[in-house]
Amino acid sequence: MAPENRARERFRSDVLSGLEVSPRSLPCKYFYDARGSELFEAICTCPEYYVTRADLALHEEHIGAISEMVGPDAHIIEFGSGAGIKTRKLLASLDQVRAYTPIEISASALAAAAKDLEQAFPDIEIRPLKADYPLDIDSSLLDLDPPSRRRVIYFPGSTIGNFDHEQAGDFLARMGRIARSHGAVLIGVDLMKTEQQLLAAYDDAEGITAEFNLNLLARMQRELDARIDLDAFVHEVRFNRDYCRVEMHLQATRPTVIEVDGRQFVFEPGETIHTENSYKYSVKAFRELATRAGLEPVRVWKDPDGLFSMHWLEPMK
Ligand code: AVI
Repeated sequence: MAPENRARERFRSDVLSGLEVSPRSLPCKYFYDARGSELFEAICTCPEYYVTRADLALHEEHIGAISEMVGPDAHIIEFGSGAGIKTRKLLASLDQVRAYTPIEISASALAAAAKDLEQAFPDIEIRPLKADYPLDIDSSLLDLDPPSRRRVIYFPGSTIGNFDHEQAGDFLARMGRIARSHGAVLIGVDLMKTEQQLLAAYDDAEGITAEFNLNLLARMQRELDARIDLDAFVHEVRFNRDYCRVEMHLQATRPTVIEVDGRQFVFEPGETIHTENSYKYSVKAFRELATRAGLEPVRVWKDPDGLFSMHWLEPMK
């Protein structure tokens, strides 16, 4: 089967299994088709969505200290394509980088970013690696000859917040194993703040986040020929205090039916499909999670407004 058909069949089977259970849910990774990725870019510039600006401000403020921690002759390994401003800022500020490996599932995004970076940083060896992180990374593909002084796993943004605690712990442990004993994990983590700020950030006034959420239903129509009355659903955001997370749902406003592959899923008014969790952490809570995953919290930086954090973690000896 061609890879795109395999991906579509996986999407179909995840949709069917997510709709048949109660409460209904769909994996948030399916937000990011071409339209969803465009909408996410637009979210990042919304006045209410502080995350991207805070992450950038943190890089502006602390890049010198971060670079000092990285030190010379490091192999920077990024989970993500490396297309962003933050990667450029980091690479530009580092002293004698040994190599940079962006890891990304989309071959086209990876190739485009690698080409740009090769032009911008002709002295750095750019080694793009196509893989579905964190699942199928063959760590030997990261070996350099001779070995670098240390591997630094770089994971900016706040994607770790989209994993539940168990998945986040597994993911951190895996990053630690890839970093190996002299390496480090440099990871962005969004911080807890008022419920009002959080709800606004995930429900902007312009309705871009609503469109991003509803695009998941539109994607099911486009790719799976699903029959859905899009007007019967609205974007809903909740703050779940018990789990310290923002939840996004698609809520039926009237009785409606979604049909996929001849199977019918009946919705009563008010019933939802849970589409995303975005966990928020205190520095202490994230450090505890990292420690349980075998990583020692060594440094943490925050942006000037204290909205976002970046942790430097080292595998425990
Ligand atoms: C990608 N991820 C870190 C975003 C977040 O904040 O959880 C996705 C997002 N969902 C709604 N707005 C942004």
